[in-house]
Amino acid sequence: MASTHAEAQVLVASNRGPVSYTQDDSGGLTAKRGGGGLVSGLSAIGPDAGALWVCSALGDGDREAVRRGVGEPGVRMLDIPADVHHAAYNGVANSALWFVHHMLYQTPLEPVFDAEFRAQWTAYETYNRSFAEALAQEAADGAAVLVQDYHLTLVPRMLRELRPDLRIGHFSHTPWAPVDYFRMLPDDIAAKVLNGILGADRAAFLTRRWADAFTACCHAVLGPDATSGTRIGVHGLGADADFLRARAHEADVDERIVALREQIGTAPDGTPRRTIVRVDRTELSKNIVRGLLAYRQLLDDRPEWRERVVHVAFAYPSRQDLAVYREYTAEVQRVAAEINERYGTPGWTPVVLHVKDDFARSLAAYRLADVALVNPIRDGMNLVAKEVPLVSDRGCVLVLSREAGAFEELGDDAVVVNPYDIGGTAGALHEALSMGAEERTERTKRLTAAATALPPARWFLDQLGELRAP
Ligand code: G6P
Repeated sequence: MASTHAEAQVLVASNRGPVSYTQDDSGGLTAKRGGGGLVSGLSAIGPDAGALWVCSALGDGDREAVRRGVGEPGVRMLDIPADVHHAAYNGVANSALWFVHHMLYQTPLEPVFDAEFRAQWTAYETYNRSFAEALAQEAADGAAVLVQDYHLTLVPRMLRELRPDLRIGHFSHTPWAPVDYFRMLPDDIAAKVLNGILGADRAAFLTRRWADAFTACCHAVLGPDATSGTRIGVHGLGADADFLRARAHEADVDERIVALREQIGTAPDGTPRRTIVRVDRTELSKNIVRGLLAYRQLLDDRPEWRERVVHVAFAYPSRQDLAVYREYTAEVQRVAAEINERYGTPGWTPVVLHVKDDFARSLAAYRLADVALVNPIRDGMNLVAKEVPLVSDRGCVLVLSREAGAFEELGDDAVVVNPYDIGGTAGALHEALSMGAEERTERTKRLTAAATALPPARWFLDQLGELRAP
């Protein structure tokens, strides 16, 4: 594996890496391997291919690991000062850039680009520079570097200046904002973000829609020739079918199925209750509260579903350093409790909400899903939409937002919703719950085929191939 300088032939750079460390009371460090498309994609090139993953140390355990020189082969964690990382990650990446691309500003007072933001921007530049310097140090002559996401938009240009010999790709896992929304950013910063990415040989996106939005922003902000030196690509990302199918049938998932069935219970006629399942980070863009409100409206409009259906909602903690995320988590809990208070009976809890992350329990919910609710305001792709139909035991109907990237591939076989329309979403839930067995089975088959058409390994290797192409 590439651990000395200038050996790595393929480099990946991302804020969050494939492994994280926790420290126990006696000082021992435990490594935990993360999941997700990037991790499985990278494993496709194999550990001996001279690949290196450069990422940030994110918590105290990670920082301690860096200090002690503990590490996984093929991974280099950067110990960027905590205050710099905090400002870059929470201030610029997860507030300004995430909010712009997901169109999340909600009040007339947002956004505010003031002196504090300028200081955060300086930190974001420093943080990006740390990555560019580490990559420049580690990359072999002519190596391919795949830079990931909105945290690292400045890296491609910085790296190109340090190492003109490299093949550099940038990949955005988020949507890209429409021109008028993107131009809320201060003009100089909007230009720096675009020029940063345009320092890459290729800039790639999850769907054509986001790629076109990026091109439109480049033309509007930088001028009509802005993208001429950079190839723009599209690589959809599919579900990791082999891994998920195997993992979803391990013993710990079976145990959680038993526990969940207990919570869901049986309808008055003795049949198992139907389930509407959602699994998300507690993320503003996932639109969890409107999902709950739509479910409440379903129970209001269609009393025949009372006692016969349960909304299984898993909303796992995310970005809790940001007050607006903490408030959103509280709002999800408040609305779920309000629905249970209003409609619940001694034998029926209408909403089963879990907020503690548990991957095995998520897979158990996937298996029990009759309906999957995926209603984001905007989403780069949304892998849950692809995973649930694949794993569900009885085949499930997908209620899908037209604003999710996955809509381009799955829209024909889903029940499609406008994520802002609560009445429309309630109607879609009714339609999904009422769908006949035959149609459901047929749709599930087609959804599964579409969801697995682009396995993560292919996503990764295709990008590498394109980047190396003359
Ligand atoms: C999105 C981003 C990823 C990020 C993930 C989790 O999917 O595109 O880059 O890793 O959210 O967010 P977090 O802030 O916890 O890394």
